[in-house]
Amino acid sequence: MADYTMQPESPSPARPRKTPEQLRSHRWYGVNDLRSFGHRSRTAQMGYHRADYAGKPVIAIINTWSDINPCHSHFRQRVEEVKRGIWQAGGFPVEMPAMSLSEPFQKPTTMLYRNLLAMETEELLRSYPADGCVLMGGCDKTTPALLMGAMSMDLPTIFVPAGPMLRGNWNGVTLGSGSDTWKYWAELRAGNITEHDWQGIEDGIARSPGHCMTMGTASTMTAVVEAMGMCLSGASSIPAPDSRHAQMASLSGRRIVEMVWEDWKPSEIMTPAAFDNGVRTALALSGSTNAIVHLIAMARRAGYALTLDRYDELARGTPVLANVRPSGKYLMEDFYYAGGLRGMLAQLRDLIDTTTLTVDGRTLGECIEGARVFNDDVIRSRDNPLVAHDGLAVLRGNLAPDGAVIKPPAAEPHLLRHTGRAVVFRDYNDMAARIDDPDLDIDADSVIVLQNAGPQGAPGMPEWGQLPIPQKLLRQGVRDMVRISDARMSGTSYGACVLHVAPESYVGGPLAFVRDGDLIELDVPARKLNLLIDDEEFARRRAAWSAPVPKFERGYGKLYLRHISQADKGCDFDFLEPVEVRAGGDPEIH
Ligand code: FES
Repeated sequence: MADYTMQPESPSPARPRKTPEQLRSHRWYGVNDLRSFGHRSRTAQMGYHRADYAGKPVIAIINTWSDINPCHSHFRQRVEEVKRGIWQAGGFPVEMPAMSLSEPFQKPTTMLYRNLLAMETEELLRSYPADGCVLMGGCDKTTPALLMGAMSMDLPTIFVPAGPMLRGNWNGVTLGSGSDTWKYWAELRAGNITEHDWQGIEDGIARSPGHCMTMGTASTMTAVVEAMGMCLSGASSIPAPDSRHAQMASLSGRRIVEMVWEDWKPSEIMTPAAFDNGVRTALALSGSTNAIVHLIAMARRAGYALTLDRYDELARGTPVLANVRPSGKYLMEDFYYAGGLRGMLAQLRDLIDTTTLTVDGRTLGECIEGARVFNDDVIRSRDNPLVAHDGLAVLRGNLAPDGAVIKPPAAEPHLLRHTGRAVVFRDYNDMAARIDDPDLDIDADSVIVLQNAGPQGAPGMPEWGQLPIPQKLLRQGVRDMVRISDARMSGTSYGACVLHVAPESYVGGPLAFVRDGDLIELDVPARKLNLLIDDEEFARRRAAWSAPVPKFERGYGKLYLRHISQADKGCDFDFLEPVEVRAGGDPEIH
């Protein structure tokens, strides 16, 4: 099954080609002065002859491999395959390691460092003789971070997605990353499985290289990047250990060399229409809510103000077709065998803009031509979607004036219209200390509220949004409740979790004023989220509120706190956005 259909040897017919003297690296290597002597002699020091690089595109490979990132453990080998393709096509590969944002290990959250990797990517490309770049990422934040940096630099760029790991397995039970962790943790806490079972799950849930194989942030973002044209068509669905993944890496290396000669830049590919395609794709996958924050940030880097309202508008008309956990039944390996992203995009043909360009010089429409679905339970047809529409909803109200989000298919339906009594935790530690207190005044109709878990408050807006159900309620059989926070939620999580409340409580957003016993109204069909107190009481609480002390007094944390934007603006640093976006021009995406 050929899952990527590029022909790397075929340059685009009408595209003018650069000369070697027009390469950016020519300034380092091609001129004859004292500095270029230094560059050439130091390249010779590494064992290269002039014939290895003279007049050739220098391709920076930004590799996020690390000993502490299991999702990228195959990148040590894959980078050799990327280099092979670059050499074959007449380029000069230069590997540049960049910080690896390892979702399972980095504390308090990789999101705190997304913008740091974006800055590192941009500055690596700026400061070294790169003519084009290959970005190697996949574990959650690495994908948007690498793209954001490369977009700001705007050199020819191709993304090599890490690919999902194989299905998990425990005693014959198929396990999905994250989703089954939460599920069986709840069962352990409820006393339904043993410590021995739990150990078996620990050993079997992640059994190969690759990123999470549920429809978490990694699977969502790599698919979005493919739909936006920034990697080879079909690349994002290939499981990491599959030999076709190695082929894809090599072909990506071949293609980037041609992209440099033909000067294909991200700014030509990542247009407003491409961002709409990215949003549609995330929605049809029932993808991670994190994609909202990342897509907004990426769009703003590109100079387009993608809004939450645009997201909601597209959600109302986009069916969920991917039957993948946590919203569905299968895993990414099944999705690949069923036809992968190309198969799904072919089902969405009338809802996406097929004229957008991709890295291999063809339109998206050309890339998905002939794509087929081999299992229509995994990739649903348009007349049998998993969910007809509203794979995501944007909520507004006095509790979230700048918006909040919920993933309705991941929630128990009876909770989508619900009014309940607030049980408030002032921060994560408070919640951890009291959530299982047998005397906690809470029942299944209560609304759990977590404050100070947003971009500044946590800090870093961690994936705490799937707030735990109290143990005593778990034992009663309760598995979902309305939960509200300014945090994010892992794409592998599920439940009636209202997330990304903006502005966040830490900066004085209304979530800061909620008290135990207040009534909160959630109405997803009406897109409402309200705290049911009168205006005078609201004003009294606002007047009594005082700003908490900053979490950092020095270092990167201080820079972060000074410049991070709120969730509805993508949580980028203000100084990294293009000047016209920062100035409030907010050009609408359509
Ligand atoms: Fe890396 Fe989930 S831990 S993608």
